[in-house]
Amino acid sequence: MPTAACGFDSRLSHFDNGANPRDNTSAMPAPTNTADGDNRFHTSRLLGNGVILTKWGGAPPLSLAARMARRFTLPRVSLAPVGAALQRPALSGGLRITSRPSNVRVSTGGSPGHGVILVTGAAGFIGSHLSERLVAGGSRVVGVDNFCDFYDPTLKRRNLQSLLQSPRFTLIEADIRDGDRMDQVVREARPSVIVHLAAMVGVRPSLEVPSLYASVNVGGTVSLLQAAARHGVRRFVLASSSSVYGNSRKVPFSEEDPVDHPISPYAATKRASELLGHAFAHVHGLSVICLRYFTVFGPRQRPDLAIAKFMARMARGQEIPVFGDGSSSRDYTYVDDIVSGTMAAIQRPDPFRIYNLGGSSPVTLSTLVETIERVTGLRARIRRLPAQPGDVERTCADIARAREELQYRPTVGLEEGIARQWEWFRSSQGPGE
Ligand SMILES: NC(=O)c1ccc[n+]([C@@H]2O[C@H](COP(=O)([O-])OP(=O)(O)OC[C@H]3O[C@@H](n4cnc5c(N)ncnc54)[C@H](O)[C@@H]3O)[C@@H](O)[C@H]2O)c1
Repeated sequence: MPTAACGFDSRLSHFDNGANPRDNTSAMPAPTNTADGDNRFHTSRLLGNGVILTKWGGAPPLSLAARMARRFTLPRVSLAPVGAALQRPALSGGLRITSRPSNVRVSTGGSPGHGVILVTGAAGFIGSHLSERLVAGGSRVVGVDNFCDFYDPTLKRRNLQSLLQSPRFTLIEADIRDGDRMDQVVREARPSVIVHLAAMVGVRPSLEVPSLYASVNVGGTVSLLQAAARHGVRRFVLASSSSVYGNSRKVPFSEEDPVDHPISPYAATKRASELLGHAFAHVHGLSVICLRYFTVFGPRQRPDLAIAKFMARMARGQEIPVFGDGSSSRDYTYVDDIVSGTMAAIQRPDPFRIYNLGGSSPVTLSTLVETIERVTGLRARIRRLPAQPGDVERTCADIARAREELQYRPTVGLEEGIARQWEWFRSSQGPGE
């Protein structure tokens, strides 16, 4: 199946495997294949005083800018045929898909606004869960995803396995940055609602390639907002993030708090997309709901996120990287609760509204590790590493607004959620790194 190169070298998302030129934290020599095929390696040691000693072998190390220029290919749009799922002759409700060698055409035979929901990022962790819930509830879902290689696209294809069995689900393989393509998809699928989840995700990698994050998370969002405004979409639900609160010391974080000080490019792009949503709501009368998700976990969690990464490494008997002294805290939110909050947001009539969706009971990194140990029965071998730039110290959601207006009630706590994720991990052999 075709894979879109995000323009992101997925090896750099694995900040604990020694392949990342920024933190150089491996204890063993780590081969580094550069974009043009030469091999270099580095050996790093964490000294007692927290200083990292790095020795380079092979060719001398390049400057960070030079390494970036060599490593990252230009963002590419996938125009390849989209596979068997799209070749169904006709789908229920009259939605018809045909694939052509260089494009995908969508044509609707149903009436406008006939309950179609367009979900971008449908193959991802949250998008696949949301699409399943929508389809199970009787909605017709058009999923858009470019299967970018930020993490293994095979995992994304696996996420869609059951959805692709449903006649109510249609997959469009496309890049949200392609404005013409998004216009075509929205014009022809005629969704009443767009749930926009597609994004370049992750805080730390955004420090490496901020322009890529801006082009996908800001440019891609604009192309969808434009298409939505042009083709009479009623509601646009946008995935934002708790990261917009930056290093705010005021807890819990409320939607009314100032969010003018993001500390990573990822966070800045998420805030920018909220602001664009506001502008489109104001100018075009589009109803825009922004959902600030707080660290989401559960089955299919992205392999770059802490719980999935720790489980995979602990199961293999490997060390787990713990950045900082373990006191940083996160408000973990189980994916089913996120989906419930998102489903409720789809129904909201407001012109523009922001909601926190969090679990509302933050835990420290140390407690998280202990909980994983307890649930899995495995012992964590911890490798302490310096706190990372871009990582916030804490997240903690005030969910009063979501409680009142969305009837949002997080129901799955950390321990139970980790137990479900562990069960899924074992049954699917889990996503390695
Ligand atoms: N998982 C979390 O803890 C969390 C927390 C806060 C916010 N969010 C937000 O929720 C959304 C979903 O996150 P997730 O954890 O499911 O991530 P994910 O990476 O699993 O899903 C994102 C999907 O978007 C797709 N995508 C990326 N670039 C694209 C492009 N240019 N065109 C089309 N598709 C593209 C990817 O292929 C992927 O399938 C994101 O917007 C993310 O920023 C997630």
